Amino acid sequence: MALTAIIGAQWGDEGKGKIVDTLSEAADLVVRFQGGANAGHTIKIGDEETILHQIPSGILRPTTHCLLGNGMAFDPVGLKNEIEEIERKGLTVNGRLHISPLAHVVTPLHKIKDAYQEDASGVKAIGTTKRGIGPCYTDKIGRTGIRVRDLFNENDLRVTLVSKTALLRRKIDMPEVEEQKLVSDLELFFDSVQRILPFVDNTIFRIHSYIKEGRNILAEGAQGVMLDIDFGSYPYVTACNTTAGNIATGLGIGPRLIDQIIGVFKCYSTRVGAGPFPTELNDAIGDHLQTRGSEFGATTRRRRRCGWFDAALGKYAVMINGFTGLAMTKLDILDEMEEIKICTHYENGEFPLLDLKDARPVYLTLPGWRESTAEARRLTDLPPRARQYLQTLEDLLEVKISYVSTGKERRQIICL
Ligand code: IMO
Ligand code: MG
Repeated sequence: MALTAIIGAQWGDEGKGKIVDTLSEAADLVVRFQGGANAGHTIKIGDEETILHQIPSGILRPTTHCLLGNGMAFDPVGLKNEIEEIERKGLTVNGRLHISPLAHVVTPLHKIKDAYQEDASGVKAIGTTKRGIGPCYTDKIGRTGIRVRDLFNENDLRVTLVSKTALLRRKIDMPEVEEQKLVSDLELFFDSVQRILPFVDNTIFRIHSYIKEGRNILAEGAQGVMLDIDFGSYPYVTACNTTAGNIATGLGIGPRLIDQIIGVFKCYSTRVGAGPFPTELNDAIGDHLQTRGSEFGATTRRRRRCGWFDAALGKYAVMINGFTGLAMTKLDILDEMEEIKICTHYENGEFPLLDLKDARPVYLTLPGWRESTAEARRLTDLPPRARQYLQTLEDLLEVKISYVSTGKERRQIICL
């Protein structure tokens, strides 16, 4: 395995958590290299469902180490809550959670700014998760950010936050209740900082020693290709690179150390938040996918928009990331379909020269299989038409499918 990466190949929510959970069985270390608490990775083990936002999904395996890399927008308050939830499940994070001192910190001020910018943007709002991600990365690039290493000096940090609060007050008119909430949020922030400081570690040296020892590392991407700040549907994107190129800079390794890059695709498409979505289905089929697939955002509980698989964007995702294998998730959600469409290309050009909002998809129609795939454990257990659907996707994307997921449970996976 050495270093294997898992990358979301659509608009996020592809089921990366489930694939990371499967692969983490053989991993010694699972790392995050970008994003923050805007991610929502759901893992179901037995009757218990866990939603993780910052801690990599590997934490549910008792001996796996987990690392939050320098490329992240790190939220101490969110992390403290997540640690408590994991401890309630009888697992400990002590000794196996490692946070980079170079990661940028999301403060309560970033969350206020995020919500304020969204509310003030009206129809131009991005539909962010309001987790402070955009404002935190804005500070990073503007060279005014706070990094994890700065959290060790509480006095200096308080001075910085007082002056940042004054600046924010000049920009926005905060109502009295919000002012009071900010005071209590800042105290909660300092409390959480105390809880997470013991986990700060020299993550660069740790990763390199794992690599030297030939141990297995899994890099867990968050969001997806179409939410990438450079390559996605800008400005309806997140605030960092979500694609494979960021693995190296988000962790502090050379690109040559990445052995495998698995692109995770849902067998149809979904998107939360605003922005163009060429294959969106605003009809009964879209509603069926939404209901049957329980398509609600794991972070914000918003209804996800649903549509057909878009191989025009899929091929683009393959190019940008250099996927070495694919994982196709939620095949079972298509079980009841009479027919299934795949967008093979756009009639009027190619993204990104073509504006996605103008894209006119051309569809290939395949017959549905109308049979349950939930209990399939091998490819040959699948109905022939389900195999035909997967084969068509593989032919269009020109990358081998390595995993097919047919349900939320750990056992519901076909490894090829
Ligand atoms: P996972 O890791 C789906 C979307 C938001 C919004 C845009 C910008 O679970 O796949 P942000 O808060 O990042 O500034 O919001 O990006 N978004 C996601 N959509 N899955 C995610 O993460 C997402 N993280 C952000 O809905 O459209
Ligand atoms: Mg998600």
